[in-house]
Amino acid sequence: MRRLQIQLARDARTSEINIGDGLRRELGSYIRNDERLKPRRVGVISNRRVFALYGRDVMRSLKAAKFSAVEWLMPEGERYKSLRSLERLLTFLAEKSFERSDVVVALGGGVVGDLAGFSAAVYLRGIPLIQLPTSLLAQIDSSVGGKTAVNLPTGKNLVGAFHQPANVLIDVGTLNSLPQRELVAGFCEMTKQALIGSQSLFEQTVAYLRKSPFGARLRATDELEALIAAHCEFKASIVAGDERESTDRLDRSSRKVLNFGHTTAHALEAVTNYRVFRHGEAVGYGLLVAGEISRSLGLLQQEELVALREAVQLCGPLPTAGQLNLNRILRAVKHDKKSLGGEINWVLLEGIGRPKIVSGREINESLLRQSLQTVLKAPTRK
Ligand SMILES: NC(=O)c1ccc[n+]([C@@H]2O[C@H](COP(=O)([O-])OP(=O)(O)OC[C@H]3O[C@@H](n4cnc5c(N)ncnc54)[C@H](O)[C@@H]3O)[C@@H](O)[C@H]2O)c1
Repeated sequence: MRRLQIQLARDARTSEINIGDGLRRELGSYIRNDERLKPRRVGVISNRRVFALYGRDVMRSLKAAKFSAVEWLMPEGERYKSLRSLERLLTFLAEKSFERSDVVVALGGGVVGDLAGFSAAVYLRGIPLIQLPTSLLAQIDSSVGGKTAVNLPTGKNLVGAFHQPANVLIDVGTLNSLPQRELVAGFCEMTKQALIGSQSLFEQTVAYLRKSPFGARLRATDELEALIAAHCEFKASIVAGDERESTDRLDRSSRKVLNFGHTTAHALEAVTNYRVFRHGEAVGYGLLVAGEISRSLGLLQQEELVALREAVQLCGPLPTAGQLNLNRILRAVKHDKKSLGGEINWVLLEGIGRPKIVSGREINESLLRQSLQTVLKAPTRK
């Protein structure tokens, strides 16, 4: 069992992160023992699949701690992270007479976490939130940092708020039931964080990946717990220094570095109408492309590029991408929503653990085309 705290300098609020096996069964006592929380009601927000697996443990623990617990389940899938779902959820909270001191718990992956988090941010202008993430991506990334959002038909995550959870309870035991593709996607996001984090985070991550053959289920070992804790610590360190992703910051500790691999990933998702890749899988390709560009600009050493490639490979097979039209991908890159003032900023690497934000003007079209070609048309990817 591991415990971390994120102290946000701005107003000294604290978010606590607890990591261990079986924490879902302790949710009730965590809330009871947290002096900042005095709920009468607890709303557990989840989807049917995750609730069928873990809902009973969670509700039991809340009832054992004498809370009035109610659940609200959303359908599964990114397209339900919408304003419509938000309205339904807010209406549910209102109909159940939730008050300012009551608590919303997000039990699920990043989709549930973002929707439930946003509802907690805006219901009665903000009520306490607890994240109980159950996917690998949610445990190392989306549950930490306070970003919440829903999608619009025009784009992902366009409406949202920053709302720090009072507590993040990471139950590594829930990863055991995660489908294989979700694991690959989560590992790719983990590799992203490792590459921009530090040499030691990278080595720890690769060592774990080497011991996790594709197809094996994740077991709640001490090594996995330590790895997830290290990733949360890294994410928390970035968030604590730049909680709201300042638009004018381009330094190595700015929250923007978390977009490493995402310029290409967004383009791949857009040209395939979000139907071919899990987001993390697209990030896997994005890391490879950013690695190629970094090497071509002389920022990254050849052996570091080789290490990056090996790490992505260890994450597992990615959907084939060789059939995609390069011109369409190039156009989509130019329209990436993360561009600022019409200009794209690329996150590149000048070494493992040393991200660098580089203006898109320094990356000419032929370099980009060449890098995409090298990565996407590589015959070795399954
Ligand atoms: N807020 C942030 O900072 C942040 C950061 C990164 C991503 N996100 C968001 O996170 C979302 C992606 O999250 P995700 O990858 O967790 O996807 P997801 O929430 O769709 O979960 C992936 C799938 O796994 C299932 N699942 C989750 N936990 C399970 C478990 N323990 N056992 C079996 N099945 C399980 C889900 O039902 C779903 O089908 C996106 O909407 C993205 O925008 C947010």
